[in-house]
This record gives sequence, structure tokens and C-alpha cells, in this order.
Amino acid sequence: MNQAVGAPLSRVDGKLKVTGQAPYAADHHVDGVAHGVIVSSTVGAGRITGVDTGSALAQPGVLSVITHDNAPRLPYRPYRNFLVPPGERLHVLQDDQVHFFGQPVAVVVAETLEAAQHAASLVDVAYDGRPPTLDLTGAPTNEPFSYARGDAGGALGSAAVRLEMTYRAARNHHNALEPHATIALWDGDRLTVWDKTQYLVGAQGELAAVFDIPVEAVRVICPFIGGAFGNGLRCWPHTVVAALAARVTKRPVKVVLTRRQLYFGVGYRPTYEYSVRLGGDRQGRLSAMTHDARFETSRYERHGEGIQALGQMLYETPNVSQTFRNVPLDVSTPTWMRGPGYSTAAYAIESALDELAHELGVDPIELRLRNEPDDDPASGLPFSTRRLRECLAIGAREFGWHKRKPEPRSTVDGDRLIGIGMAAGAYHTLRGAARAYARLTAEGAALVQAGASDMGPGTYTSMTQIAADALGLTMSTVRFELGDSTMPQVPPHGGSQTMASVGSAVQNACDQLRQQAITLAVTDERSPLHGVKAEDVIVRDGGMRVKNDPTRGETYRQLLTRLNRTHLEVIGSYAPPQQPRFSTYAYAATFAEVAVDARLGVVRVRRMLGVYDAGRIVNPKLADSQALGAMVGGIGMTLLEHTVTDRRDGRIVNANFADYLVPVNADVPDLRAIYLEGNDPDADPIGVKGLGEVVMVGVAPAIANAVFHATGRRVRELPITAEALL
Ligand code: MOS
Repeated sequence: MNQAVGAPLSRVDGKLKVTGQAPYAADHHVDGVAHGVIVSSTVGAGRITGVDTGSALAQPGVLSVITHDNAPRLPYRPYRNFLVPPGERLHVLQDDQVHFFGQPVAVVVAETLEAAQHAASLVDVAYDGRPPTLDLTGAPTNEPFSYARGDAGGALGSAAVRLEMTYRAARNHHNALEPHATIALWDGDRLTVWDKTQYLVGAQGELAAVFDIPVEAVRVICPFIGGAFGNGLRCWPHTVVAALAARVTKRPVKVVLTRRQLYFGVGYRPTYEYSVRLGGDRQGRLSAMTHDARFETSRYERHGEGIQALGQMLYETPNVSQTFRNVPLDVSTPTWMRGPGYSTAAYAIESALDELAHELGVDPIELRLRNEPDDDPASGLPFSTRRLRECLAIGAREFGWHKRKPEPRSTVDGDRLIGIGMAAGAYHTLRGAARAYARLTAEGAALVQAGASDMGPGTYTSMTQIAADALGLTMSTVRFELGDSTMPQVPPHGGSQTMASVGSAVQNACDQLRQQAITLAVTDERSPLHGVKAEDVIVRDGGMRVKNDPTRGETYRQLLTRLNRTHLEVIGSYAPPQQPRFSTYAYAATFAEVAVDARLGVVRVRRMLGVYDAGRIVNPKLADSQALGAMVGGIGMTLLEHTVTDRRDGRIVNANFADYLVPVNADVPDLRAIYLEGNDPDADPIGVKGLGEVVMVGVAPAIANAVFHATGRRVRELPITAEALL
């Protein structure tokens, strides 16, 4: 009966995407749409002293130029969901204050995009600017988040071996292919937006709050996302700008951020510094670890990300202390980016473990095995499944770890220094309450709906697989729809929780639907299944039959047609346990081989392998697209991606794809992913643990550790550039 789940099926929406028929946010056709172009501030802090809109307004086709001088005051009712950071969101075009370089200070609305762009270039804004504060060090910080168990200071003092290091990483931008875009349409006091969003409910709630209208009056539509990596979890200022402009002009308005505007108009992974102190015995058993980190945030919101968990649960460390500080700066608010917090912490922790291994002369994999906990050292809960040991063992075998000469700078290939490195990783299995609608029709087909998003993991496909198996239908007779806030509510499409949460709701809905159909059949005197016990009926090939007598049965079509029913329908649901009985994480072991040009310092990744304990793998082909994609992203994070800011005014100097380097084909070698067989029945009804984030955690330290092994040089700052290695 399990035919679709587990199979490496291609995306059901693949053809739509490759033929350009999948509508992304800006692609939706809305009659009479006008175009909004945002004018961005050219100072990094200060106030606007005047805006001259005369020549912009004089351009043909210009409908309106909206600034803080003439914008209607928006209610900005307080709104919180667990993805909105503490603080007060940017109130767009409401006052003369400039909080960061690139802040929206005006929007020009015109009949055509070209007219709007040209007119926007003519808006003349005068500022009273001041130099922005941009440096992590020196600036005052917010109240820290802190955690302690045992006595880390005392344990460090008596440890046989002590190390202390500080790691730094540049700010990274998500740089998805699809730009953030919104089309806003008002019908009286009802607002419809076509928006790039990973959280329909969040966008809906936020827009309702900003305009002080009922949540039900806002509809958010987002059937396709061209990559997001966390940047669509919040509603950003341009979405409000689009809705505001539509209200002022009484026209539907489309706002598409330019590539350049994406560097300050939406979030990014904050730059940070992370100091680690660790102490242990000569065998490498950790007795203490301290984590002190600071990372940037805006002055108006305090972005936080799950940076604390890894330091608490990855290793059996009796004494731990953590202090994490936000540093409020004159920047826009950062946000979650793939493996948020965990990737950040993993770079520091897994580099530090590698330093300890080198110091002690213990094999890095062996060092990790010596510190494996039996239970979660933070919560005390048993792990539902924790198969990191297997990940490490399989990875070592498949990557040829035993052939590695332990001594750094010991392997040479012509002009190149060869290094092999590894890192462990984990990411918590998030789950949230979700609902799904399912309908079985007299034609023998199913329609399943949930208000989810699909930013690339293949949600359309994986949900279709779940439904097809639960109903005994083929993939092509099931249609799964998502991306509309009128559909049943689900959690944010982030934190790798969609499969566990929405998948479980879809499973529940389709299980109920199957039971309904079977009950109808076994209680209908005209059915060949009449009188059979419901539990003896299985579903297959679009119908029901007796388990031990497959010749006896009937199709859904026969059943519903005979009963004069056009369809059966249900709402299914899933809710995570209130009180978790288990500690549930997905685990990763990542391996990298690099070749470093000894004279030029250029690092090339030669091959990578990830081994994952992520519970059930619903579709290995889609899983590969997650895992290999994360390795590519990790190559960028480790070796290339770096936002450069002009200290004088906060301008991001390389706000384009030519100067902000991301990996291209030539940077990407042979990549391989292996998934442990099995599932985690305690995680959720379908046994998945989430994959999209854990694959990112550990990529950067694996590469960084390989660079150390190749060169004997420990660079404690990302990206690792040629300059740093010369
Ligand atoms: Mo992921 S950073 O939660 O989209």
C-alpha cells in the first residue's frame, strides 16, 4: 500500500515551473494593476528634512507620489506572532525618521513600471543625516539571553585542557532567485495580496493589524515561491507599501523589489562573533563549554534565533554557560536564514571541537563519539531517535576518512594542499498545529488543500504522495493545493516543520476519508464489501478490496455513484503533544574535501558528503534537492558570501549578484547525500524529523575544518578568503 511515499518521484509541479507557467508573486494577472516603485533612503541614519515630488508628479502616467508628508496615518495595531521579534516594526512612510540606509522613504505609483521607475529617480529627498553606528564591537547591547548548567567557570579552571577562541562570520543575504514582490488589491475594506510569503497566516495577521481591519478581511495568495530560505517568514515593509499605495490610488498596485533593494528591504543572516571556551580531559571528554556571542539587530526590533540549543544538547557537557547578546545598530532587522541559529552556533562549536581534536591528537570523529550524550543534557528527556553515531560511521566509511593523514598540511597534489574535514550538526524537529481539507469525488479522484507554502522542498509533491498512499490512489488522481489563506491553517513554512505538521494533517484527513468510504461500503447491502470488517479492507488502485481476497471489492467511483454522492469530504488535523516526552532533533554528519592553492590561497571544494538522521524520507529525490542545495549554500557561506558596508553611510556596496559572490557551477563539486533508513514514530504520525535546515548545519565548519587540515592555518572568520590564507 505504501507505494508513493519513499519513492524518488519528480515534482508534480515540475512541468509548470520549467515551462514558466507557475505564477510567482509578481506574475499574477490583476486587471488594471498600477506599478509602485520604492524610493530608498540614501543616508544611514537621521531624518528627512524635505521631499520634492514636483518633477516626479509631472511625468506622464504618474498617479501618485506617496511620502510621509501625504501618506494616510496607518493604525499599526500591535500584532504579534511567534515569528515577529520583540520591538516595534518599521512604520512605513509614517514619519521623517531614517533608521537605516535603503529604508523606504517614498513610493511612486504609475501606469507603467518604466514611468514609475523614471519618476522615482526624480524624487528629491533632503536629509539631515548622521553617521550610522554599524560595528558589533563597542556598541551597547540589549539584555543578554543567558543559560547555565553546572559551574562552567569552575570546571574550566580545573580542566586538564583548555581552549579559547573567537569566531566571526559576515552577514549573509538569502538572495533567492525570486525577488520579494506584492500585488495589493482593495475591494472596499477587504484586501487581497499576492505576496511572496512562507507564512500566509502571518502576512494576513500583520496586514490586518497595520490597517486595523479584521483578519478575515485579508486574503493572502502565494501558490509558488522561487526560493526564500527564511526570508518569507515575515511580512516586510514593501508589502505594506503596496497595500498603502493601492489604498491611496484606488488601484491594484504591484511592488517588486529590485535585486539591490533586496539587500536592505528584507532580512538577512546577521553578522556575529562567537567566543567559545572549552575544557576537558586529555582523552577529549568535555567538562565545560562557554558560549558568548553577539550579533547585529536593528534599533527597532530584537531579532533572535535558536542559537542556544546546539551548545546545550550536542555534547554531554556537564558545565555549560551561554550569553547571547543582540547589538542594536542602524541597520534593518535581520531574520532567519536556513538553519537559523544552529548554523551560526555550529560554525563556532564544530570548529572548536576540531581545534580540540588537533590539540589532543584525537581523531575528530572519535572526539565526537566520546562526548555523545545518552539523554538530552539540556532537558533531561530521552531522545526519540538520535543516530548521530551511525551518521558519523557511515560518513567515515563512504568518504574514506581512514585514508586521511591526521597531520595538517600533510597531503599535497601538485600545487595544491589537500584537506579533509568533518562536522556534526543537529536541528530541532519543530511541529505545529495544522489542518487539511480532503475530498474524494465520484470520479475517483482526490483534492487535498492546506494553507501551506512551497518554497522549494516540493511540498506539492510530498503531500500528494502522502494522500495517494492513504487513499490508495495514483499520484495523478490526487491534486494537492496550497498557498491561499482561505485554506485550512497551518504553521509557518519554515523551521523544517511543514512535512511533520502539514504532512500529518494531510495523513489524518486522508485516513478519515478512507475510513468514511470503507464504512459506507461495508454497511451498504449492494456493495461487494457488505459485511466485511472495516479493518479487513485495504485501498488500492482507486478502490477498496478485502485484504485476503483481492478479487472482492469495488472502486470509489462505483461506491459513490451507486450512493448518489458527488463526493466525500473531511477536515483533518494534527497537533503536537503539549508536553513533549522526548527530545527530538534531526542529525547530520557532513564531510568535505578541499584543495587549496598553496601559492594563491584559493580554496576549491573537491567533494562533499552529508549523512542524515532525519526520520522517514518521503521522497529521496526531493531530499537530495534539499541536501545538495544546502551544501551549495554552505560553500557560499564558507568561502564567498560577504556583505560589504560603507562605514560612512551604511550603504551596502556589493548589493548585486556581480559583487556579492554566490557559488556558481564551477564552485560546486561532486555532492552526495545519504539518509539513514527508518523513521521516528515518536516525532509525529508520519515519522519525519525535518530535513531542510539540518542539512545546512555543519556545512561551514566541515569546509573550514578541511581548510585547516589542508593548510595548517586556522582562519576563524567567514568567508575564508584567499587573502586570509596568504
Ligand atoms: Mo527556514 S530559515 O525556517 O525558512
